[in-house]
Amino acid sequence: MVLGNTIYGYNYEVLLNKGVVLTNTYITLLKNRGFVRIYIDDGETADIVLNDPISDKIRIMSTKNIFKTYKITQSAITNIEAKTAESIIKCINAPKIKKSFQESQAFKQLCNDINYFIDEIMNQDILSGLNSIRSIDNYTYEHSIDTAVISLIIGKKLHLVREKLVQIAIGEFLHDIGKIFIDEKIINKAGKLTAEEFSAVKQHPTYGYELLKDIHNIGIVSAHIPYQHHERQDGKGYPRGLKGTNKLDDKGVTFTEQEKMIMIAEIAALADVYDACSSDRPYRPGLPPDVVYEMIKNGAGSQFNKELVDCFLSVVPKYPVGCEIRIKNGKYMNFTGVVSSLNTHQLLKPKIRLLTDNMKNKISPIEIDCSSKGIDTEIEGIR
Ligand SMILES: [Fe+2]
Ligand SMILES: [Fe+2]
Repeated sequence: MVLGNTIYGYNYEVLLNKGVVLTNTYITLLKNRGFVRIYIDDGETADIVLNDPISDKIRIMSTKNIFKTYKITQSAITNIEAKTAESIIKCINAPKIKKSFQESQAFKQLCNDINYFIDEIMNQDILSGLNSIRSIDNYTYEHSIDTAVISLIIGKKLHLVREKLVQIAIGEFLHDIGKIFIDEKIINKAGKLTAEEFSAVKQHPTYGYELLKDIHNIGIVSAHIPYQHHERQDGKGYPRGLKGTNKLDDKGVTFTEQEKMIMIAEIAALADVYDACSSDRPYRPGLPPDVVYEMIKNGAGSQFNKELVDCFLSVVPKYPVGCEIRIKNGKYMNFTGVVSSLNTHQLLKPKIRLLTDNMKNKISPIEIDCSSKGIDTEIEGIR
């Protein structure tokens, strides 16, 4: 097997280069590092282009700077003994922590690169696929990048002004930074959290907001992304139980209105769930993209802003390129394959390539355009 994408390690050094032949030693190394999925270059799908909306260069630069910003801030808090939420908030507001955050080279660099990041995304109309491969070590940083990507594509569709896009990007990059003030054992716990642990986790939006609210390069509006990204339209979210209007009205609500979510946070709430559910974790594989798509659709009105969900469904394909699928009907029933390309005007009906038959035997590839007249092929995503 030949590796289809470059794999990066804890410090964003190259672990394995794209094109390398995977020996048993390499496979064990990847498993030990917590990788549960990688891309394989197998002649039959080599022409399928997995379009990452951002270039490797910008992805790596931004991920590295998020990682370093987290680490620098984390190192400033090592001696904090605070236990209650109030005392932790007090510590977060200590000048030492604010200073180490604000003056870190990584944070400055992250802010400097935002415009390049946005420019690259402004070249696309739909999210044809996300290309990040995650390990335990880099999950949070890649998650932060990918939620920014999803949110900015929605932002583009909504014709948001540049200033708003910048607010979205910086808020998303750091939306989970409050987690550094919570015991790592709880954050990385694989099983179900106890009530006590969950109430500790539920503080991360508040901690993130407290850290970012008065940082010069961020601004109060962006700080409301961390603060509100776990809130819901029906008021059942946390930490404050804010509500939403279920409308796309950017002018109606401001962050000073205590009981309502602001729109950029509503975008973040949606992107957060989409990305988290799609991603593999060491203790469970990610859900297939079509299942997550349906989850978002079903959450419209209660969890997510209804009008925003409509916008999301128009820019995110149910079956992205590279998505593994199974045929549900007809003569190819139970054959499996991958989505080879999208039909941009019929996002629900992509082009697919079948690679195995109903007995899981390899076949010579069969290409089907699900949007063609007379084709009634039904597909489902698999993992
Ligand atoms: Fe979060
Ligand atoms: Fe998140």
